[in-house]
This record gives sequence, C-alpha cells and structure tokens, in this order.
Amino acid sequence: MSAKTLLNVTDLRSGYGRVGIINGISLAVKEGEILAVIGRNGVGKTTFMKTIIGEVPIFGGKITLNGIEVQKLPAAQRAQLGIGYVPQGRGLFNSLTVGENLRLGKLVGGKPQQTNYDRVYDFFPVLKERLTQIAGTMSGGQQQQLAIGRILVGNPRIILLDEPSEGIQPNIVQSIGEIIRRIRDREGLTVIIVEQNLDLIQASADRCIVVEKGLVVDEISPEALADPAVAKKYLAI
Ligand SMILES: Nc1ncnc2c1ncn2[C@@H]1O[C@H](COP(=O)(O)OP(=O)(O)OP(=O)(O)O)[C@@H](O)[C@H]1O
Ligand SMILES: [Mg+2]
Repeated sequence: MSAKTLLNVTDLRSGYGRVGIINGISLAVKEGEILAVIGRNGVGKTTFMKTIIGEVPIFGGKITLNGIEVQKLPAAQRAQLGIGYVPQGRGLFNSLTVGENLRLGKLVGGKPQQTNYDRVYDFFPVLKERLTQIAGTMSGGQQQQLAIGRILVGNPRIILLDEPSEGIQPNIVQSIGEIIRRIRDREGLTVIIVEQNLDLIQASADRCIVVEKGLVVDEISPEALADPAVAKKYLAI
C-alpha cells in the first residue's frame, strides 16, 4: 500500500446551527486504505461524513484532498475533485430504473468522459441484468450495490459509505464488504466506511477509528472487535 496521504482532516469542527457535533477530529487516510469509522448511535458519524463532502458547514479546521484544501468549497466541487458519497439510506431515486440511477451518477463525479459502465457491471453483475427494473423494487442488498455502482460511475478517488449494511439481509452483508475490498484491491480506491456491523467491518476495513461525542477516542484493528467486550463497548450491538 502506498504511504501517501489522500485525505487529511485537521481539528475539524462542525454542527447544526450553533450546536457543535464534530468537536475537533483529526485523521489521515492513506491512498488505497479502507478506514472504518465506528461508534454508537448519535455520536456524529454521519455529520462527520457530511462535513467532508460539504453538506454540513465547518466551524473550523481543515480538510485536504491530495494536498488541496477543500473545506470551503461547495459540495459539487468536492465531488468533482473525487470525493464520492453514498449516504445512509442509500439516496437512490427509487421510482427510476437501475439504468437511470446509474446514468445520474455521471452528473456528480469527477471525470465523466471516462465513464465506463462495464467496469461497474464487472463489480456488480446484477445491475447489468436488471437495468430496466425500478430501483425501489430491488432487495436491500441490490439497492446498496446500485448506490455504490452509481458513485463509481463518477470515477471518485475516495468513496465515503455511510452504514452500507443498513437494511440488508445478514447473509448478504459480508459479500458487500468483500465487494468493497475488491474495488479497493483492483482500483486502488480509498474508502471511509461508517459501520456498526461487525461482519462488514471485518470483511472490509484495514483500520478502525472510534468516535465518541464528535471526537476520535481510540484506534483499533478490525480483529480486535472479535472480542465481544470490545465490540460491545464501541458498537451499538
Ligand atoms: N439536520 C440536523 N439538525 C440538527 N441536529 C442534527 C441533524 N442531524 C443530526 N443531528 C444531531 O447530531 C447528532 C449526531 O448525529 P449523526 O446523525 O451525525 O450521528 P450518527 O453517529 O451518524 O448516528 P447513527 O448511528 O444513528 O446514524 C445527534 O445528536 C443528532 O440528533
Ligand atoms: Mg449516521
């Protein structure tokens, strides 16, 4: 793995109105790394992701992507620089078809001229089989594949996934984790994944940071979560 830092976050603070939710997070994500952000409900995991993509304004601190400061750029510009985001709940257009959802991914990404749908179908063959199906009628696992596939269409350098295991059958969760890993292994993509699901974390992540009250309070290996006492402390299970 390259030792180069792709995303660097320094003393990041943000929140809603005047209420601070992220209270000084610093972290560095290396190119090609899969970082899991874990922590109990309501600690600010989603707010952290939304601050990085530009949906929640910063109170202070710095975010750099490949050395470029992005914390003051609008969300669309950050997306063009290569930050892809799959929101909690997936954010699909449920009444549109799979193919239409995928084509919309072209509008948010960095380099549309390089759009290569075959590359997406290679990771997610089910999407090619179901191009004309209405997205909302697919299973949770298939919808999550579509949400990730749609982001890949935009050719991001880093993808932020917020609880991809949510609403997915337990027997599919691990395979979603394996696909995330395969995307990284084959394409060198960098991934930040917010998760509470042990199987998905262990199938995908290289490293876990633990968030509490808008701060990073610990860093652990995914293997360490195999200890039920550790998992109970840090995950909502
Ligand atoms: N749009 C909003 N306006 C005001 N407060 C918000 C908003 N969104 C979230 N919050 C509050 O910010 C805090 C952190 O919420 P956030 O959604 O970031 O947590 P989370 O760690 O992602 O939780 P979960 O595990 O349930 O997804 C919570 O207290 C929540 O009530
Ligand atoms: Mg959340």
